[in-house]
Amino acid sequence: VRIRVGVDVVGVERLERLVRDDEDRQRELFTQRELDYCSGKRRQYEHMAVRFAAKEAVLKAMGLGLGACGWREIEVTRAESGVPSIVLHGRARALADERGIRSWRLTMTHTHRLAEAIAVAL
Ligand SMILES: CC(C)(COP(=O)(O)OP(=O)(O)OC[C@H]1O[C@@H](n2cnc3c(N)ncnc32)[C@H](O)[C@@H]1OP(=O)(O)O)[C@@H](O)C(=O)NCCC(=O)NCCS
Repeated sequence: VRIRVGVDVVGVERLERLVRDDEDRQRELFTQRELDYCSGKRRQYEHMAVRFAAKEAVLKAMGLGLGACGWREIEVTRAESGVPSIVLHGRARALADERGIRSWRLTMTHTHRLAEAIAVAL
């Protein structure tokens, strides 16, 4: 199996400054499901930051830069166990198909300062 990897780290405060009190920006960056998960959490900006890191990690794994697709087209979902995964939509999905990517593995971690994600494309 050919494997591609991408990693990214995001400062939680930076992400908070970007999206706090800005619903339009939140909706540009995150799907409704992502927002529903994060907004139910005590440290919601950590969860948003790590999801943003995951989206950037996915772009890196595909060899793409910012703007290659919409942020909401890369969605972080969550199994009942807590294990996160990636679901692609629209243009992001087409870009993955072009690269022969069949599935993703994702791992994420966050503290009050930093959020990091590693995406693996199979
Ligand atoms: C997985 C676990 C080690 C996370 O460790 P942590 O130091 O508390 O948290 P981290 O910041 O490193 O990581 C958090 C991320 O791990 C991921 N995660 C959660 N559960 C996971 C699991 N079972 N396997 C893999 N990844 C998991 C999630 O992406 C989570 O971020 P999110 O909530 O924003 O989606 C810890 O939650 C654990 O032991 N879980 C085992 C299952 C369990 O006990 N569940 C009880 C739920 S009440």
